[in-house]
Amino acid sequence: MKIRSVKGTADVLPGQQAAWSQVIDAAATVLGRAGAGRIDTPIIEYAELFERGVGESADIIVQKELYTFEDRGGRVLALRPEFTAGVLRSYIEHGMFTLPTPVKLWTHGPLFRAENVQRGRYRQFHQINFEIVGLDTPLADAEAVHLMWATLAGSGLHGHGMKLGSVGDPEDRAAYNEYLRTELAPRATELTPVSQERLRLNPMRLLDAKDRGDIEIIKDLQRPLERLGTAAREHFDEVRAHLDAWGVPYEIDPGIVRGLDYYRRTAFEAHYQGIGAQSALGGGGRYDGLIEQLGGHDLPGVGWALGIERILDALAQEAAATSESTVPRQSPNAPPSLFLVPLDDEAVGEAAALAHSLRAHGRVEHAYQRRNAGKGLKDADRSGASHAALRGASERETDSWQLKDLTSGEQRSVSEQVLVDLLTARDAR
Ligand code: HAM
Repeated sequence: MKIRSVKGTADVLPGQQAAWSQVIDAAATVLGRAGAGRIDTPIIEYAELFERGVGESADIIVQKELYTFEDRGGRVLALRPEFTAGVLRSYIEHGMFTLPTPVKLWTHGPLFRAENVQRGRYRQFHQINFEIVGLDTPLADAEAVHLMWATLAGSGLHGHGMKLGSVGDPEDRAAYNEYLRTELAPRATELTPVSQERLRLNPMRLLDAKDRGDIEIIKDLQRPLERLGTAAREHFDEVRAHLDAWGVPYEIDPGIVRGLDYYRRTAFEAHYQGIGAQSALGGGGRYDGLIEQLGGHDLPGVGWALGIERILDALAQEAAATSESTVPRQSPNAPPSLFLVPLDDEAVGEAAALAHSLRAHGRVEHAYQRRNAGKGLKDADRSGASHAALRGASERETDSWQLKDLTSGEQRSVSEQVLVDLLTARDAR
């Protein structure tokens, strides 16, 4: 029996790397220009961090999605299911509250949730994550929303839309949950078991129900945005005013609720139609109170995460629709690269030796056995190189190589120095 990859995990093959880099590079540019510092936190943390961080009624905890294990010392560790808790743990541990406010941090990498696998929902997946710590003003929320939108635009996407809502202050949430409990009590037994569990632990999450029967039961109930307290309402209106002034496109979603417990006030998501049921490219919101809950000072924060697999899915949909490739295999501006073809046995060693020295200047590959010119040029083409250089007895006599431009077909005899010049992109013609 062949050993296969674990269900819900995927390999990122060489041919997919350019698309991944395109998205991650866009995030680095957009978020770096906004003053965010890159941070990397460990993949394993104490399980308690997430239990305290995401909250006991978060989907990750209720649906038992956390991968946990005991280490040799009997401590319970977990694979991170999201970035926020770990990033804030690091912020507290390294005393970043002494830095000028706000502290903006971004990261990307793999996360793990024991999910029911489907399109857009995996057990190992990847996010780009951004946090602004230390500001409680609506301006920070608006900046976060704008940067999420801009990161998607920067990665080449056009058709994404932002949804904006508010889950209110803790007291608004408590009152709203009470409202749902009262309204739904007479029909509770008609709900699916998952929704009944949500009604018990965190009724607001019912608004995310996917079951038709559940949707019918809740459809006429008021949404959190319609029951905000004055402070949360004013905050929300100010966030909107900033986004309107900047021309960031968004739509209001009065029923936006997030799967993690820590959100207060602003909650938002980025969506893309056409990538299946999991249309959220990312989500985020304000989480005042979370840093204190993790043992830090009482500091506010706002942030978001984008799912990289879902962005790539959306980019592929757009590329298919416009029949453009998302990322050209070798962009026209890419530096020249060389494939060396030994035409006789002696040239095999010469090609390998030359490749080793030329790699100081650029990408150089070679055939590992004698090739005739036709086969050697085919190898060169398949490698994606821009040029091939061939060597046999006659080139050895003149200490030269036959250089062929694989795009134009132009061919000429050159010295090794010309190959160096070619790779260093100095004009070799
Ligand atoms: P989240 O909504 O749980 O938020 O995840 C954000 C995004 O990660 C989702 O919209 C989706 O694109 C992607 N994602 C989540 N789970 C999966 C999965 N199983 N497979 C594939 N993609 C997935 C958070 O994680 C928060 N920590 C965001 C945040 C940061 N809030 C404040 N700061």
